[in-house]
Amino acid sequence: MGQFELLLTPAGQKVLAEAVELVRGGADPVQAATALRRGYGADLVSAALTQAGLRRRAVVKFGADAEVMYFTPQGLEQATRVEVAEHRARRLVDRWGAGSVADACCGIGGDLVALARAGCAVDAVDVDPVTAAVARANVAALGLRASVRVADAGELDPGAYDVWFADPARRTSNRRTFDPNAYTPAWPVLMEMVGRSRAACLKVAPGIPYEFIPDGTEAEWVSFRGEVKEASLWLGDKSQEVRRKATLLPIRETLEASGVEPEVGTIGRYLYDPDGAAVRAHLVAEVAQIITGRLIDPQIAYITSDSPARSPWVSGYEVEEVMPFSLKRLRAALRDRHVGSVTIKKRGSAVDVERLRRDLRLHGDNTRVVLLTRLGNRPIAILATELPTP
Ligand SMILES: C[S@@+](CC[C@H](N)C(=O)[O-])C[C@H]1O[C@@H](n2cnc3c(N)ncnc32)[C@H](O)[C@@H]1O
Repeated sequence: MGQFELLLTPAGQKVLAEAVELVRGGADPVQAATALRRGYGADLVSAALTQAGLRRRAVVKFGADAEVMYFTPQGLEQATRVEVAEHRARRLVDRWGAGSVADACCGIGGDLVALARAGCAVDAVDVDPVTAAVARANVAALGLRASVRVADAGELDPGAYDVWFADPARRTSNRRTFDPNAYTPAWPVLMEMVGRSRAACLKVAPGIPYEFIPDGTEAEWVSFRGEVKEASLWLGDKSQEVRRKATLLPIRETLEASGVEPEVGTIGRYLYDPDGAAVRAHLVAEVAQIITGRLIDPQIAYITSDSPARSPWVSGYEVEEVMPFSLKRLRAALRDRHVGSVTIKKRGSAVDVERLRRDLRLHGDNTRVVLLTRLGNRPIAILATELPTP
């Protein structure tokens, strides 16, 4: 029996409950291990303490469910957070009904759990035996029904399900990979399986290059509290063009490409940074329309306006000064204002932000935002203060 399976035995459950209490109480890891070792074997104690620590870390992603779920360090890192998984499951059911769904790379079950809760009959596989065992334990711990097996995604027949879903592994040596050919399973394999499916949904990294997105796909970029998390590709409809959407979670606001032509004009009193999901989905003109703003440059995703706008689609700044970019000039402007701390943002600028921060040698009690960007090929710096978030 593997270390993880030991935890599912009656003795394992007991030691896990004690480990959770110790971790919750902030016990020192060595003391906790010593205390538990008085009643249980070393392997079990180590598995229980690891699991208790993972449950604690998992609360940010899984909320109260984390208290009863199981994780592996990598499985937790790669899992879809609950709000995003629920959003996808809801979309899937709205679109194709709550039928049979293959989860071809289920991990510890973030998406699997959401799909099962949404009423889908899920058949899940993961190539890694421990990860699959953890996913199976999660289905049971949450009182759900789904089949979870150890298998390679390629062993499933995509055409046998109403929907074939895959969230391929996207990290190599601890770095997120944006090249779909480096996913596992690799992109050509995934596309071949999509081709044999009745309908398919793929979770991909938000930085997926557009040329990889097949015709007829609906691509939806999703951000959670202002941070872009992923894109979902919905494949299986017969239309020709790629349809682009962006969604803000947890507020569940979605914007679709409308084809509106962006207005471009001089930088006004306010500057807006659109949510990353809208930027990735190339919906900056649509966001500009919502806040009655204009782009500062056709190639740059900053919006400007002369009156303040409040929208969940943007972070806003009040502009104090716009200057051609030069270290000397920026340093002088910040010195004059006694600025000791700056938030530096950049779009279309090659400046090394950390080096600039050091070179600015700031002193003072005030704070400012510096936005580095360009108009045409002229680099500029915009000195601004942050507007309160809506
Ligand atoms: C990004 S994770 C899935 C996370 C999952 N959606 C969740 O929310 O918990 C990708 C998983 O794919 C699995 N995997 C990689 N290649 C696979 C293959 N060829 N067949 C099945 N699973 C595979 C990995 O073991 C990993 O657990």
